[in-house]
Amino acid sequence: MTSPAPDPLPVARTVAELKQLRPEFGGETVAFVPTMGALHEGHRSLFRLAAKHADRVVASIFVNPLQFGPGEDYARYPRVIDHDLKACAQEGVDLVFVPSVSDLYPPGRQVLVDAGQMGTVLEGAVRPGHFNGVLTVVLKLFNLVRPDVAIFGEKDAQQLACIKRMVSDLNVTVDIIGAPIVRETDGLALSSRNRFLSSAERRSALALSASLRAGARHSDVADVLEAARAHLAQTELDDPSFRLDYVDLVHPSSFSPVPSDHVGEAILAVAARVGSTRLIDNVTVQLTRPGSDGSAVAAGRQQPA
Ligand code: PAJ
Repeated sequence: MTSPAPDPLPVARTVAELKQLRPEFGGETVAFVPTMGALHEGHRSLFRLAAKHADRVVASIFVNPLQFGPGEDYARYPRVIDHDLKACAQEGVDLVFVPSVSDLYPPGRQVLVDAGQMGTVLEGAVRPGHFNGVLTVVLKLFNLVRPDVAIFGEKDAQQLACIKRMVSDLNVTVDIIGAPIVRETDGLALSSRNRFLSSAERRSALALSASLRAGARHSDVADVLEAARAHLAQTELDDPSFRLDYVDLVHPSSFSPVPSDHVGEAILAVAARVGSTRLIDNVTVQLTRPGSDGSAVAAGRQQPA
């Protein structure tokens, strides 16, 4: 006897279809995983974590134009919907929402969510308006999917912090859960953008995670930054196509730079361009020693030439 074919994966391709399908879950709890598709093992780990937190898992796949600036990679962002639906089905996702741009952003819209100060530093400084675009689409998706919990990866640590802030500041009744970064065995954090890397660029891209490991071996602000920066500076010398955007140590919730004598948890965050591909990574570090030399910290914070 052959086993019965699994139920086909329900896919809502419009807001109207979602409004029809969502009520089928009745009183069951829902965990939501928003994505932009090109799903990899990192996204899959979020689906699996979601299943542990609720009766049903809803995913969305939407390349959100609002979070891309002019000259960024919106047009070339990978769109592989057949592959993605297969991945969702394999991971037991119960419903996938795949709206079109015109359906989610009909003409005439005006209101945006503003991420505030924490949306203007690090990623927000390099990509002005990025987090406003992220928060706007995430809030819209929350209002449409009406989840009990939503899962976001620590890979995008500033995004996760902004979403937690939004939920708190705007009294959104969704529990936000962070999921650990999934990496290749050599340390490269999985990203939908890794597919754009040539093999030489991929080797240079390893500098991001390696610099974080080098920094995390130290226990005060100045030493962490110096070790990470030294590693990245060497990569810039070795590979002219590698350009550092920033590396900094920030508070996990506000994303403002920690003072030189900070003790406790901090996030060491890095972003760089490798050829035409922009990559980010981060690690949580435990600072156990108050820094002694403030001038060294200030020097370590200078932007690379
Ligand atoms: P996307 O880049 O597709 O990521 C979707 C989710 O997967 C995010 O929460 C992200 O942090 C997580 N993720 C990506 N790579 C990961 C990895 N290597 N390990 C663990 N989690 C990982 O982030 C977005 O889409 C968008 O900004 C979105 C929130 C969907 C709003 O448009």
